[in-house]
Amino acid sequence: MSDPNEMGDLPIGVFDSGVGGLTVVSALMRRLPNESILYLGDTARLPYGDKSPRTVRRYTQRNVDFLMTRGVKAVVVACNTASALALDDLAYPFPIWGVIEPGAAAAVAATRGKVGVIATEATIRSNAYGRAILRLEPQLEVLSRACPLFVPLVEEGWSDDPISRQIAERYLTPLLEAKIDTLVLGCTHYPLLKQVLRQVVGDAVRLVDSAATMAEKVAGELATRSLAASADEARHHFCVTDSGEHFARIARDLLAQSDDNTRSQAAPNVVLELVEV
Ligand code: DGL
Repeated sequence: MSDPNEMGDLPIGVFDSGVGGLTVVSALMRRLPNESILYLGDTARLPYGDKSPRTVRRYTQRNVDFLMTRGVKAVVVACNTASALALDDLAYPFPIWGVIEPGAAAAVAATRGKVGVIATEATIRSNAYGRAILRLEPQLEVLSRACPLFVPLVEEGWSDDPISRQIAERYLTPLLEAKIDTLVLGCTHYPLLKQVLRQVVGDAVRLVDSAATMAEKVAGELATRSLAASADEARHHFCVTDSGEHFARIARDLLAQSDDNTRSQAAPNVVLELVEV
């Protein structure tokens, strides 16, 4: 299918290790209500954040292969870890966009000088955010911190829990003492902890993530490449690589909130397909 008009009606493929990428899906649904989404949560291999670059590259490749086999017009890597470690290696016959550049752009737009970045161990080790932010604005100061316990807390559904708050205090205190003015949520799971993070950082620190900037970028790219959906009939499909009980509950809550009024009936019935990747 090489005609851009036919291609346009294929879904956008989106993947993450688990539920985190749904924070990006939610922004995509809001910004591009006509676009269909094929989502893959690689729950069998989660977390990615403590794996080696080689392993994350292998998982990423398999995920994109899976999405290509199903038929997509573009892929959004809704995982910072995969974007940081594997994006440059991907060569496919459709565009692939990662979340680091949009997240860095959001940080640069928000900060007054000192940016904190929180993310998985692998993302922090790669320094992908530090490099992307300083490429845009070399005089900024960037401090970073890995928060490995956040992903399991979110996957467990403990996003708004006293335990999550205590852990967040422990992780964020050094960044707050260093007087950051902006905090980048450099893992797509972290926006699900926003309430707790807001309580810990207070009102003075801006919280930014990639989701809205990513959705804006996708909208621009689809328009430029004549790949926007022609029909007003978005269909979303969700796949996981391991049992998805928590996934389905979190997806229902998150996507119900993100759907606009005209589509609010579609989101709560998140049907999961179990797939092998
Ligand atoms: N949500 C992913 C990210 O943005 C990965 C979390 C994980 O699997 O460790 O980095």
